[in-house]
Order: sequence, then C-alpha cells, then structure tokens
Amino acid sequence: MRKPFIAGNWKMNLERKSALGLVAQLRERVGQRADIEVAVCPPFVYLDAVVQALNGSPIKVGAQNCCDETSGAFTGEISASMLIDIGCDLVILGHSERRQIYGETSELVNSKVHTALDAGLEVILCVGETRAEREEQRTEKVVGAQLVAGLSGIDGRSMQRVTIAYEPVWAIGTGLNATPDQAGAVHSYLRGVLGGLYSDSIAESVRIQYGGSVKPSNVRELMAVPHIDGCLVGGASLTADSFISLLEFR
Ligand code: PGA
Repeated sequence: MRKPFIAGNWKMNLERKSALGLVAQLRERVGQRADIEVAVCPPFVYLDAVVQALNGSPIKVGAQNCCDETSGAFTGEISASMLIDIGCDLVILGHSERRQIYGETSELVNSKVHTALDAGLEVILCVGETRAEREEQRTEKVVGAQLVAGLSGIDGRSMQRVTIAYEPVWAIGTGLNATPDQAGAVHSYLRGVLGGLYSDSIAESVRIQYGGSVKPSNVRELMAVPHIDGCLVGGASLTADSFISLLEFR
C-alpha cells in the first residue's frame, strides 16, 4: 500500500513570521497523523528555521531545488549535502517553473536527482506537459521522456526515496486543475513507464503525486483516483486552514 503523500510547495512566498506561524499550526493540528505523509517546502532562507520548528514532528521539510554539483565555485547555488546538513529530508527537482523560467533541461534535472540521492535526500521529481503539448496529443510522449531522462542511471533501490509529481503546466497556479480522468490516465501511464524501467513491484511502490491547482474543493475527487497517491500543492499550501483542509481528504 502506498501511503498518501501531500507536500506543500511554498515557492517564493511567505516570510519568516508567517512561515513559522504556519508550521506551528501544522505541527499542532496534523503532527500526529500517521495515515498520511506531509511535507512543507519553504524557500531556502527559511529552511533552517522550519526544520527547527518541526524538530521531533513527522512533518518532513524539503527544499525546492538544489545544485547538481557537490561543492565549489558555484555562486548562488545550494548543495544537496548542505540541505542534509541542516536537517532537510527532501528536495523538489524538475519543477516546471525551473524548467521553463530557468531553462533546466531533463539532463540537468537528472544530474540533480543523482546528486540529491547520493547526499541522502528524498526526491520529488516533477514532470508535466504544456497546454500546447496536450492539445497536440503529445502528453504521454512528453511526460514519459521527462520521466525516463530524469531517472536515467537511478537504480531500483534508490526508487524507495523517489516520488514522482505529475504537474500539467497548464494547471499550475491557473485554477484549472486536470480532471480526475485526465490525471488518472497520465498517472497510470507513468506507472507503466516505471514498470518498464524497473519492475512491476517497484512501479507499484513508487508514489505519484498530482499537482496543479489542488484545493480543498477538488482534493477529494483527485485523491479518489487509483493511481493518484498524493498531491504537490502550491497556492493552497500557504495558509494553515487551506493546507489542513486538504489533508482531510478522507
Ligand atoms: P498550484 O502549484 O497548486 O499553485 O497550482 C502547484 C505546484 O506548482 O507545485
């Protein structure tokens, strides 16, 4: 059984006070939930404080990116081992905003996946098609290629520490979520690709999150779809009330 995994991607939002206020409420109100896994992914500068605030709680803390190099002259970058050093559990890699705005290729994302796993982090690897790609009926081709390239050279054992997030680009921050049928079809396709890359049992064990305008009003129907094992949530993860109501999906 795959344990549902809901992660909040704060992106470049909140500030120290609001971030700590949010995690204090999460710790108090959902810190005891054993039936789901919960993570928050603050901006780099608040990671340390959030890790401290959640110390001893099962709520995981993740970064939104890391460098593909391990150390050295990379001005402005943060290494995976630094994230481990301050107590982070995971990192989001290959988010469409990184791919589209900052030009990250699947090869770079793959290199980051290797570095993060080698350092001991868990990884949420994001894949997703643009609206044009969906309209041209290239969704499977695009997300399949992103998945295969992102996981190139990653062994089956390491897949225990990898979650896939299917995030259609046209659904992110737009209020337009994929329908349960649309998302379910892509999730089931991605699981098939994982089966081909690894084995059926590994494919069955990897969690695939849906992301893109997940909110309290649609989380239930999305989470009811068989291959949707969790959500990667942007806007609705920024206040305690909305994030906590998402976690009440069942
Ligand atoms: P959204 O963002 O929930 O605000 O659409 C999701 C994401 O980009 O991870």
